[in-house]
Amino acid sequence: MARERWGSRIGIVMAVAGSAIGLGNFLRFPVQAAQNGGGAFMIPYFVALLLLGLPLMWVEWTVGRFGGGFGHSTAPGVFHTLWNKNRFIKYFGVIGIFGPIVIYIYYVYIESWLLGYSLFALSGAYAKCADERSMAAFLHSYQGVANNEFFSGMGAAYWFFLLTFGMNALVVYFGIQGGIETVCKWGLPILFLLAIALAVRVFALGAPDPARPDWNVANGLGFLWNPPDWRALTDAKVWLAAAGQIFFTLSVGIGVILTYASYLTKKDDVALSGLSAAMTNEVAEVILGGSIVIPAALAFLGPDGIAKVATGGSFNLGFVTMPLVLQKTAMGNIFGFCWFALLFIAGITSSVSLAQPAVAFLEDEFGFTKKKAVLIFALGTFVLCHGPILFLEHGVLDELDFWAVNFCLVFFALVEALLFAWVFGIEGAWTELHVGSDISIPRFYRFIIKYITPAFLVAILGYWLYQDGIDVLLLKRGAYSAGPIAPADLPYVIGTRILLLALFAFLAVCVWIVWRRRAKETAA
Ligand code: ALA
Repeated sequence: MARERWGSRIGIVMAVAGSAIGLGNFLRFPVQAAQNGGGAFMIPYFVALLLLGLPLMWVEWTVGRFGGGFGHSTAPGVFHTLWNKNRFIKYFGVIGIFGPIVIYIYYVYIESWLLGYSLFALSGAYAKCADERSMAAFLHSYQGVANNEFFSGMGAAYWFFLLTFGMNALVVYFGIQGGIETVCKWGLPILFLLAIALAVRVFALGAPDPARPDWNVANGLGFLWNPPDWRALTDAKVWLAAAGQIFFTLSVGIGVILTYASYLTKKDDVALSGLSAAMTNEVAEVILGGSIVIPAALAFLGPDGIAKVATGGSFNLGFVTMPLVLQKTAMGNIFGFCWFALLFIAGITSSVSLAQPAVAFLEDEFGFTKKKAVLIFALGTFVLCHGPILFLEHGVLDELDFWAVNFCLVFFALVEALLFAWVFGIEGAWTELHVGSDISIPRFYRFIIKYITPAFLVAILGYWLYQDGIDVLLLKRGAYSAGPIAPADLPYVIGTRILLLALFAFLAVCVWIVWRRRAKETAA
């Protein structure tokens, strides 16, 4: 069976940018910036982009294209190709399928809320929620976690989930070119138009309350771009938050870019394409993401608004603060729709990329047809999605997010960087990166990729273990809370972990079966 290929260079750049531009750009970024001192966050952020984000982008594109040349689209096969003398390395590659599945099973559910809310904005379903309390009640009622003031059960949420889940499966079923590339080529320009419309709307607000002239958009922008309080840069937490944001937003360290790049041919450029995809994401995040939420929150809610963004978290920002703020503007329902549609498009172009590694694994390594692979993936993830849907209030979603994003991403990136620079060897790796390349990457990046990026990753992992990892592992506290896990939530947290371990073990056994079969075929 011929390998699938991208239809055009712009197609893969848009697909990788589509994977990168997600909820992280418009929700997570403003929250991180607000929590970490605005301008003081931006310096570590750009340092992490240059020392971590860009190098890992190039590493993933290069190893993905290299592995694709051997018929592998996923990390177990790609890692094995890079270090075929090592029998265990393919099991580290399992993270490149496991991590995306774990993120997928909650990401699709959140994405479905956005689809629902786009329609609610247009129909005015939440229009009578004039304060934070009632907007939050609307959200909780929709999620089925608190009351039935607005929805009599979870029916609406479940229907939107089914619709969103079906849409994702369909896009992946139509394949790399017919599905993912097409959706990203259409979706990304629409996303940019919606984001520009929202940013222009926010800029036009000026100072909406004449009684409080300093509650204005310019001060909101100043929060991000004015020279910072330099002392904040001595705080390790700010550096870690910036590095974590760069990882999440660029989609590096998950394994999805590796899979996308495996559909390139050896002649295709990776250096300029990787750079272009990363820069497109940064424009969406820093320019557009930074021009919507924070200025709007400051103009309408004042400095307290920034504090709310910082403490409320992404869901509160996306589903409570922003709809409230947008409702106060003229044509609020249209701009509310723009906001949720923007997030929905950002979400779906990311979630299809999370589905692709598992589907590609089934196709490449088990020889399944696309239809069969998508069906198996859809059935498996459909069942798993019910964890976050049914037990949202018991911390299942947080638990999935915590292990996938905080641990798997960083650990997988470290393995990739070490394989690339130390096992494959920086000489060969550098040559491979430049095959078919349209640009020459400055030579000091050899040093960065070999020493700085892995050292940065080890530091993040070590600090994370010390700061959070061990306590959460030992159940001393919840995934994202400072306090202990509520006794009622404990069985759900433990259950989620057992499920995660079982999923990992299942995937590792699949890899074992594939390699054993291959060894037998070679011997025969
Ligand atoms: N990179 C994706 C996002 O920012 C996962 O949401």
